[in-house]
Amino acid sequence: MTREDALNLLKKYNESEALINHGKAVEAVMKAFARYYNEDENYWGNVGLLHDLDYEKWPEQHCVKTEELLKEENVDDKFIRAICSHGWKICTDIEPKLQMEKVLYTIDELCGLINATALMRPTKMEGMGVKSVKKKFKTASFAAGVNRDVIEEGSKLMGMELSQIMEIAIKAMSDVASDIGL
Ligand SMILES: [Fe+2]
Ligand SMILES: [Fe+2]
Repeated sequence: MTREDALNLLKKYNESEALINHGKAVEAVMKAFARYYNEDENYWGNVGLLHDLDYEKWPEQHCVKTEELLKEENVDDKFIRAICSHGWKICTDIEPKLQMEKVLYTIDELCGLINATALMRPTKMEGMGVKSVKKKFKTASFAAGVNRDVIEEGSKLMGMELSQIMEIAIKAMSDVASDIGL
């Protein structure tokens, strides 16, 4: 699947700019981690871009509906499994096993936290450091919908310190800031 195909598919089922921007943010971070681990950037990026494909129209069937939609597009099982595993213990029982899956599981919620942090700052992503995100991470009332436990558990699964994960994610989102509304 090309990036263009993936983006067209995302737009086919999503009109919300916030959701499209979230998909693009997760894409950018997935690509940064693919580079870090020497993996396929395009593949990891597309998994990120499409991870919430069903969320706008079928929030009650999150991940389950995506499996159906992607099968119609003849997407391979590995791709589908990776996407479904981001809903582990929330809407699926598919545990993240591959590194790609562990990264997606961890950074999905983290992207939400970084996005919320950016929206509070006059300069948005510009000049954002790990410190400010860490502070927001510890303030449970800030962006309360962001599940900190998932991020922490994901960091353990990945075998990487949370600070380093944050650093890579902040950099990746900064690089595409204008394209994700930040
Ligand atoms: Fe999701
Ligand atoms: Fe998401």
